[in-house]
Amino acid sequence: MTLQELRDLIPALKQSSYFQVGGIAPSPQPVIDTMVRWLNLQNQGPADPRFSEEISALEPRLIDKLAEIIHADPAEIMLNTNTTIGINIVAWGFNWQPGDVVVLSDHEHPGNLLTWYNLVRRYGIQIRWLKIQNDEGKLLQDLTALLSAHPPRVVSLSHVSRRTGIRLPARRISDLVHHYGALLLLDGAQSFGAIPLDMRQIDADFYTFSGHKWSLGPKGTGGFYVKRSRLEFLQPSWIGSHSQKSFDAAGNYELLDSARRFEFGTHDIATIAGWEKAIDMLSAVGWSQIFETVADLTSLAKRSLSQIPGLTILTPEPYSQSSGIVTFQIAGLTSAEICKHLYEQHKILAGGLERDTVMVRLCIHAINTPEEIAALVAALHKITPLAK
Ligand SMILES: Cc1ncc(COP(=O)(O)O)c(C=O)c1O
Repeated sequence: MTLQELRDLIPALKQSSYFQVGGIAPSPQPVIDTMVRWLNLQNQGPADPRFSEEISALEPRLIDKLAEIIHADPAEIMLNTNTTIGINIVAWGFNWQPGDVVVLSDHEHPGNLLTWYNLVRRYGIQIRWLKIQNDEGKLLQDLTALLSAHPPRVVSLSHVSRRTGIRLPARRISDLVHHYGALLLLDGAQSFGAIPLDMRQIDADFYTFSGHKWSLGPKGTGGFYVKRSRLEFLQPSWIGSHSQKSFDAAGNYELLDSARRFEFGTHDIATIAGWEKAIDMLSAVGWSQIFETVADLTSLAKRSLSQIPGLTILTPEPYSQSSGIVTFQIAGLTSAEICKHLYEQHKILAGGLERDTVMVRLCIHAINTPEEIAALVAALHKITPLAK
């Protein structure tokens, strides 16, 4: 499949230039058709043995595909419904003591803040803050100082920041965190499907990601990776039917040997099948082509945006330190004014972020085109005289 063929199958792209994949992605029509097919399949005979084989093959097959994409063992991956569930699995997987330290950054999503705020309230843990900055050397220096002054139990950071798109030096951070005896959780909501991921190379202990962003899956899909050697350490807080290898009436039970021990209860298989379809379509284009196109378009956007007077790019310039996200601000204009103008005058969908009135975020995916970037840049050139 070519990128153009993929684009042609995404209805939302006929409505607007879509730069909001990092918020919520438009799925290709075959993803929706697959979901409808599976809804019907499941509904035709939920207990019908003719369907059960196809149904039970679905989830392990998707896990195998995810494992291949992120270079993990399938036994290290579970399916869930979003990124935040993985954060909660880690947060509730420790026996916290008052005063235990967790390190977060000032770029985290509410899902990677509120989860920990909850533990501050419940158990009296302490949060220490890492300030994210584009100077990688300084960032690592600050992290080292923080880790040595306040040794944490967990460091929980976005691999790719939703605020500026900065891609953290994951392996160097993981080495540092381990050196200080802590465990690393990376939030991959903005990295999975946008940049190549290799769990062996990154060496984080936990990695959580969404399906409904850069992999164009249905809303309410996600995965969670636990390094095999951490599986027994992480206490499961919620389990139920399907988490177990065996159990008896006397209260004995054995959990699955895989990360699927954190799954329980009945799943929405239509949504899961839809995510598999999205993954298959991106695989048919080729992941290297997807990643290279994201890199090329993002670099093009940065080069062109940097020519606009009054516009400041907040994303690091080298692509190796960024991803598909580019954020900027224009002196004298709020993000709401810019986004409203872009949408109403040019049918370009960009977004702002909560608790920030000036930053505009572009999520540039391989489903975007150089022509869309050119149109966006032309629109922004026209908008700058509006700046007060
Ligand atoms: C960095 C980051 N983490 C977590 C989330 C939350 O994702 P989900 O809704 O899949 O839990 C987002 C969503 O935008 C995000 O950008």
